[in-house]
Amino acid sequence: MENQPMLKVTNLTKKFGNLVAVNNASMEVYPGEIVGLIGPNGAGKTTLFNAITGLYKPENGKVVFKGVNITGFLPHKICKLGMSRTFQVTRAFLHMTVEDTVRVGAYNRRNEKNVLAKVDEIIELCELGDIRTRVCGDLGLAQLRKVELARALATEPEMLLLDEAGAGLNATELSAFMTLLQSLNKDYHITFCVVEHVMQMVMGICQRIVVLDSGELIASGTPSEISHNQRVIEAYLGKRAVNYVN
Ligand SMILES: Nc1ncnc2c1ncn2[C@@H]1O[C@H](COP(=O)(O)OP(=O)(O)OP(=O)(O)O)[C@@H](O)[C@H]1O
Ligand SMILES: [Mg+2]
Repeated sequence: MENQPMLKVTNLTKKFGNLVAVNNASMEVYPGEIVGLIGPNGAGKTTLFNAITGLYKPENGKVVFKGVNITGFLPHKICKLGMSRTFQVTRAFLHMTVEDTVRVGAYNRRNEKNVLAKVDEIIELCELGDIRTRVCGDLGLAQLRKVELARALATEPEMLLLDEAGAGLNATELSAFMTLLQSLNKDYHITFCVVEHVMQMVMGICQRIVVLDSGELIASGTPSEISHNQRVIEAYLGKRAVNYVN
C-alpha cells in the first residue's frame, strides 16, 4: 500500500430535497486495495458512487482522484482519468452484441485502428468468447454482469467501482467472479471499491471495509474487525459475516 490515496473523498454530502442520502462522508482508497463499501438498503452506497463518478454533483465535499480534484467533473472526463464503474441495475445496451458493448468501452482510450485488439483481449479475459456475437438482451444475469464488467475494463481503468456486481450469481458463478476480480487486482493492478451485499464476496476479497448507515460512515476496518464491530452488527450485519472471514 502506498502512502497517497488513489481516491480521497472528504466530507461529501449529497441531498435529494430534504433527504440527506450521504452525510459528510470521508473515505480513502489506496493504490492496489480492494475496499468494500457495505451497509443496509438505502444507506447511500450507490449515491456515494454516483457522486464520486460525476453522475451527481454533491452539495458539499471534495473528491480527489490521483491528486486531481474531480469534484463536479463530468463522468466521461473522470473515466478518461482512469476511473470506471459498473451499475447496480446493469446498463448493458440490450440491443447491442457483447463485442459491440465492449467496443464502446474501448473507445475511451483508443481509436478505430487499435480498438479491436483491446476488445479481443478483454473478451478473452472475461471468458466471453462463446457469446461475443450474441445480443445482450438475450443473456442471463451472470453473463450480463460479466459484460458490464468487460465494458468497464475496456476503458482501461486504474480504479474500478463495482455496484453489487455479485448480486444474483450462483455459488459457482460467484466463485469464478471473485477469482477474476482478484486476478484483475493482482495481475492488472486495478484498484477496486466494491459495493456488495454478498458477504462471501466482501469478506473473501476485500482487504478493508467501510460501512455506511443512513448516509453516514460508521466504521472502517479489516473484514475481521468489521464482522465483530458491535455497531455494524446492530446496523446491518447481524452475526452472519463472521463465517466468511478468511
Ligand atoms: N435519485 C434519487 N432521488 C431521490 N432519492 C433518492 C435517489 N436515489 C436515491 N435516493 C434515496 O437516497 C437514499 C440512499 O439511496 P441509495 O440508492 O444510495 O442506497 P444504497 O445504499 O445504494 O441502497 P441499496 O443497497 O438498496 O442499493 C435512499 O433513501 C433512497 O431512497
Ligand atoms: Mg445501491
